[in-house]
Amino acid sequence: MKHIFQKGKNQNKPTLLLLHGTGGTEEDLLPLAKEIDPEANVLSVRGNISENGMPRFFKRLAEGVFDEEDLIYRTKELFEFLDEAAEKYDFDRENIIAVGYSNGANIAASLLFHHQDALSGAILHHPMVPRRGINLPDLTGKNIFIAAGINDPICPSQESEELKSLLENAGADVQLHWENRGHQLTMGEVAAAKKWYQTIKK
Ligand code: MLT
Repeated sequence: MKHIFQKGKNQNKPTLLLLHGTGGTEEDLLPLAKEIDPEANVLSVRGNISENGMPRFFKRLAEGVFDEEDLIYRTKELFEFLDEAAEKYDFDRENIIAVGYSNGANIAASLLFHHQDALSGAILHHPMVPRRGINLPDLTGKNIFIAAGINDPICPSQESEELKSLLENAGADVQLHWENRGHQLTMGEVAAAKKWYQTIKK
């Protein structure tokens, strides 16, 4: 997968996996990683799907309606890419924290839903429930931060609550942060994510 890897100053820190929103690139979230942890490794990936020229991590049938078969396939593809990247760049495969926005947060949530050892934690900006009606792996010990907007037209507030419950029922430790905004990524939620990151065991 097309990506950028930046080696951090401190190899005891996690690797931050950056996953952009629809129409974004691997450049988009680099400033967020600097904000969250300037000493961590950064692996920023571009989604392999092009929707009318807009990069995405998996196909959709309509806005908010996912192509499940492709979602499962692309989730596995990203999971395997993480294995390869950890080997190539020599970082700790067991210590990857995803930072995703919108479509990128959805594929990060899908990694958690389908693969027990994909991530050690995640910062999800405006995620949706990636799939329903499946058993999640045991997510005990995983720390997850969700930022949601009260007036998000793409993700209703009940869906953010539902995602929190699904992850908690699988054993994850979840913090849900609300912004009085829509689907946009705000500086307020980045500051809240940073504060959360500083408190979790890494
Ligand atoms: C998705 O397709 O992942 C969601 O609708 C969010 C987005 O617009 O990318």
